[in-house]
Amino acid sequence: MITIHTEPFEGQKPGTSGLRKKVKIFQQARYLENFVQAVFDSIGDFQGKTLVVGGDGRFFNDQAIQIILNMASANGFGHVLVGQHGILSTPAASCVIRKYEAFGGLILSASHNPAGPDEDFGIKYNMGNGGPAPEKITDTIYERTKSITSYQTTAQTHAINLAEIGTTNIGNMKVQVIDSVVDYAELMQSLFDFDAIRTLLAGDFRMCFDAMHAVTGPYAKVILQDMLGASEDSVMNATPLEDFGGGHPDPNLTYAKDLVAMMYGNNAPDFGAASDGDGDRNMILGNHFFVTPSDSLALLAANAETVPAYQGGIAGIARSMPTSGAADRVAQSLGLDCYETPTGWKFFGNLMDADKVTLCGEESFGTGSSHVREKDGLWAVLFWLNILAVRKQSVESIVSEHWQKFGRNYYSRHDYEGVNSDAAHQVLQNVRDQFETLIGSSLADRQVQQCDDFSYTDPIDQSVSQNQGVRVLFEDGSRIIFRLSGTGTQGATIRLYLESYESDSKKQGMDAQDALADLITAANDISQLTELTGMNNPTVIT
Ligand code: G1P
Ligand code: ZN
Repeated sequence: MITIHTEPFEGQKPGTSGLRKKVKIFQQARYLENFVQAVFDSIGDFQGKTLVVGGDGRFFNDQAIQIILNMASANGFGHVLVGQHGILSTPAASCVIRKYEAFGGLILSASHNPAGPDEDFGIKYNMGNGGPAPEKITDTIYERTKSITSYQTTAQTHAINLAEIGTTNIGNMKVQVIDSVVDYAELMQSLFDFDAIRTLLAGDFRMCFDAMHAVTGPYAKVILQDMLGASEDSVMNATPLEDFGGGHPDPNLTYAKDLVAMMYGNNAPDFGAASDGDGDRNMILGNHFFVTPSDSLALLAANAETVPAYQGGIAGIARSMPTSGAADRVAQSLGLDCYETPTGWKFFGNLMDADKVTLCGEESFGTGSSHVREKDGLWAVLFWLNILAVRKQSVESIVSEHWQKFGRNYYSRHDYEGVNSDAAHQVLQNVRDQFETLIGSSLADRQVQQCDDFSYTDPIDQSVSQNQGVRVLFEDGSRIIFRLSGTGTQGATIRLYLESYESDSKKQGMDAQDALADLITAANDISQLTELTGMNNPTVIT
């Protein structure tokens, strides 16, 4: 073990999903080392215990893993499980941490952010429950980065061969390279009705999964093709590339272009889906039909009994605050609790650990359950396939029937990316400044009922998270919400969330942007967003 002198770097503050910076920043001498040491200094006594390490395969993944392995050994871990070729999707990492009862894990990813030498890299620490470290721990890590004076590593200079499954040693620490897919695939098989899905895929039903040249390619090939018999052409962009093929692997209507073109083209398949850089997000499409993530969560909950793992019922549902209230209506009809948490998967962990909820979701294309402690892209795809196999209806007819029964929550998110940070803060402040005059007034032909900065008290550990979004809530259930992104790496991103509810089935067939037009105008009026940002339109609409 050797101790290397270091000095703090500014701004090593983990955001919603760990520390995310440009690769060039991570490549500076001692930068990654400082952060990793700060993590090791903040997580308690792990001497002799197991650490899981893996990432989404993006540029710098391999080098980062070699640095981490040496530091893990020098700091006293007894055993590291690392995915073959350094690959572990985020949900697979969570699965492996739980299955092998590891002390925790380091996941290397910047999710859907572009990859390559000039793009992004990221690292986050997950706890023994398989979920992202709570704010209490990430705050401690950040504090530690500000006072760090040295880190520990080994004198070992040769790299561990990550290409081959097997076990080696660094000092007293065992390094075990494991198959990246097997444990996760077994878990999926234990949850879903693979026989029913196999029968569906053997018939006329056609599907396409877009791995976007990111981490889910190998998982989709094994599970969908080898285990479930999907056709050769059912997985597109299946080879993970260091730069994700130059793309932006975020599964939404803007970035999953190839898939969207196919699903809205001639002779479209019955079912289309995509996942993001690290495999935790999902987008679901039918033939010429888009399922919003908020609706998807509600639908999975309403159809949970079709899935073997959830046949006995689910404990409850949780959604992030900006996610539409569609799931609340399902929870109510099932007599279940529905929790509203701040944005970020980490807020679901306590609820799942305490068995308060089984299904969780976010509007940002994240859905998951207590089978792991991360959102899970392929899990959502398999859940949908399971429902389709049992109900034998099209995606569109399943969603339409759902709306008829529960009403439709028209929903959209408008992102304004790369905004000047002062301007972004001012947009939110403008709305805040009008809270008192807005309450009780009429806006977009609706009565404003409540205005606030969303604050959350965790029902399990009572920890309080404040300023989680500026909300204008209407009497009819409509909502306008402004939030600043916590995951961007350049400038600020304003997220504007819009929602209105329609119970009349004859009025449920509108385009969401049209249905929300008056709320969009009102949101602009009260925030002065266009004037302050100089942007007439959002950069991304989902
Ligand atoms: C975004 C999403 C959020 C998600 C996070 C990590 O965070 O909005 O729902 O949990 O990415 O995938 P944001 O950039 O809004 O802070
Ligand atoms: Zn992701």
